[in-house]
Amino acid sequence: MSKKVVRVLGIESSCDETSASVVEKKNDKIRVLSNIVKSQVDIHKIYGGVVPELAARAHSDVIDQIVKVAMQKARIKFKDLDAIAATAGPGLLGGLLVGVVLGKTLSHQLKKPFIAVNHLEGHALSIKLEKKINYPYLLLLVSGGHTEFTIIKNFNSYKRIGTTIDDALGEAFDKTARLLKLGYPGGPEIEKYAAQGDKNRFVLPKPLINEKNAHFSFAGLKSAVANIVSKNRCTEKFKKDMAASFQATINEIIFNKTQKAICEYKRTVKSKKDLKIVVAGGVAANKSIRCSLRQLEVLENCEFLFPSMKYCTDNGAMIALAGIERFERKKFNKLSFKPRPRWPLDKDAIFMKGKRAVEG
Ligand code: KG4
Ligand code: ZN
Repeated sequence: MSKKVVRVLGIESSCDETSASVVEKKNDKIRVLSNIVKSQVDIHKIYGGVVPELAARAHSDVIDQIVKVAMQKARIKFKDLDAIAATAGPGLLGGLLVGVVLGKTLSHQLKKPFIAVNHLEGHALSIKLEKKINYPYLLLLVSGGHTEFTIIKNFNSYKRIGTTIDDALGEAFDKTARLLKLGYPGGPEIEKYAAQGDKNRFVLPKPLINEKNAHFSFAGLKSAVANIVSKNRCTEKFKKDMAASFQATINEIIFNKTQKAICEYKRTVKSKKDLKIVVAGGVAANKSIRCSLRQLEVLENCEFLFPSMKYCTDNGAMIALAGIERFERKKFNKLSFKPRPRWPLDKDAIFMKGKRAVEG
């Protein structure tokens, strides 16, 4: 398809952010015309985590308004859109239904194609909202719900080479923060406390670190923190030292596993081009992890790319962008498409939750 200007509305409601965005591609140049995000953090923070039923209700309360504002901000009319894209999985079913039903309704009403987007594809491509990048590249996705290394070989050609067998990395940050009676979301709180603490005070386990694969496990780390917390008074000094020890342990695990993912990438991709590694998802905001990964650039002759924060966390723009890529390839979906709470990016990837990483 050789249409010069393509404009897609992207709707995101898979977790705890309601978002809508219009993205335009004109002569190969990507422009985000609007990206409206409403976080539900105030609703969920008293529970220390996302409550699915409350999330679904909150999405349905605001989604119409969010789309309206996104269209106004983009200064275009619905008739100027080429397609409607909505996150159709993976994520919480109630939230997915809200976005998908609205996407299908608009598509039907406007007689424009409906595109069901995999949320992980959105994260994988999000870097393209700001930078030109050629395939292939390596993705490290670290968020509240996902932790994985995936080789982005080409558009729609993905190979997952590492994942978590239990908690996601963001979940580990949130659970540790809860144990230390810090606020929610826990990641930024841990990072803040860690900067003032003694990282050598507590020794924490580094699960799977000696295995040759790029898989993660964080559940044992959280249990170790719980054990230490139960034996200590939770003073400010204790919280800072615990947060610092946790952060340092995470940095080491991520550093180590990224080296293993790079080895696996080089075995799989016989490309002569410089290796680019995109780090996306909410945890990619962590400056300490960024800093630690940067040290690999010289060691492994690679370059790390971090999308800006607004495109690291969940947003409609990455969904609209994935929608544009699909629109250009005429990859449309029927209105009978059902949301998929579980929807791996690499359809051949085996389900690892609860499994030992054995291939190492
Ligand atoms: O991508 P995201 O906004 O939502 C999804 O899970 O899809 O990621 C949220 C996660 C939370 O677990 C939060 O604690 C974590 O990202 N996070 C951080 C930081 N900022 C957010 N983790 C570590 N350090 C941070 N600075
Ligand atoms: Zn996400």
